Amino acid sequence: MKHNVILGTGSAAPDNVVTNADLEKIMDTSDEWIVQRTGIKSRHIALPGEKFSDFAVSAARQALDMAGVEAADLDLILAGTISPDHIMPSAACSVQALLGADKATGMDVCAACSGFIYGLSIADKYLKCDPDMNILVIGGEIVSHHLDWEDRTTAVLFGDAVGAAVVGARADGHRLLSVETGSDGNLGRLLYIEGLGSATPVTKDFDIDNTYIKMKGREIFKHAIKNMVEVSNRALARAGVTLDQVTKIIPHQANMRIIEMLAKQFKKPMDDVFVNIDRYGNSSAGTIPVALSEAVDTKFIEPGDIVLMTVFGGGLTWAAAVLEW
Ligand SMILES: CC(C)(COP(=O)(O)OP(=O)(O)OC[C@H]1O[C@@H](n2cnc3c(N)ncnc32)[C@H](O)[C@@H]1OP(=O)(O)O)[C@@H](O)C(=O)NCCC(=O)NCCS
Repeated sequence: MKHNVILGTGSAAPDNVVTNADLEKIMDTSDEWIVQRTGIKSRHIALPGEKFSDFAVSAARQALDMAGVEAADLDLILAGTISPDHIMPSAACSVQALLGADKATGMDVCAACSGFIYGLSIADKYLKCDPDMNILVIGGEIVSHHLDWEDRTTAVLFGDAVGAAVVGARADGHRLLSVETGSDGNLGRLLYIEGLGSATPVTKDFDIDNTYIKMKGREIFKHAIKNMVEVSNRALARAGVTLDQVTKIIPHQANMRIIEMLAKQFKKPMDDVFVNIDRYGNSSAGTIPVALSEAVDTKFIEPGDIVLMTVFGGGLTWAAAVLEW
């Protein structure tokens, strides 16, 4: 019998690393404040000319290599991002062209930080209809283009990175046991970018401030914990797995204090929780697939592990997936 499995993973980020000390030079902040409040020490920031597809293609090629799947054999590309190269064509179509994945269908998933797990959810359901499909799920951002470097309340938190996974249905492999999602549009103004859409189109009076991320950090914090716990419990129930059976957690990397509170709620030691926020900051839809790829590469997750991945983001959106590695 075939199951939906993760066949390969990959990740990529700009070479340019910006440390907290670098930020101290351009805004009223300190390494001490950033580390204490967020756990972030440095982040990758794209240089002018670097765009989403550059890193998405690199992550995708690694995932395809690990999977032993040719780009030409992809049937579907799902790109979770809010920072595509262009508003049109979609990020997935840009990646399709660069990979030469000629027979694939490409589409974007707009769910902010939850974009990758939302993509996994869509892939899971496609595969249940057609188990012969090879699906590339990408998640990530060049979110730095939406940062106001004069706003210390947001600029220090985010970074650029992209991850990818190839999923398919096989008799053996790293099983995707369940994926659950949720959203609440009523909370949309807690984390948003005002402009570039049809509500605030670009006119000659367009204010660049409309392109920046705006956030109510404290309120987000509360919703983050509550919704990640709720959606994780749903994903575990659907997978038929108890919290006791979970051996590793890969959480959204938005804030170290949120990660630690989540570990406490789930009664798991921090040794079982994957953390790379210190090196990446919050790469939005990139956090989960980049962390998954690094967890695989470093053998943080190994065959036999039951892995819970959980995320929240703008929308608000949230999602969780359970893997049997
Ligand atoms: C953003 C966050 C780190 C702020 O931490 P906090 O403890 O809530 O801090 P506050 O916003 O209350 O600010 C406390 C003080 O630090 C100051 N401050 C804010 N950013 C600062 C910075 N980068 N450097 C130094 N001081 C800063 C504030 O101005 C405030 O000063 P005041 O007390 O003089 O008014 C935290 O709320 C958070 O992480 N929230 C979740 C955000 C998130 O996850 N977003 C992504 C969703 S996908």
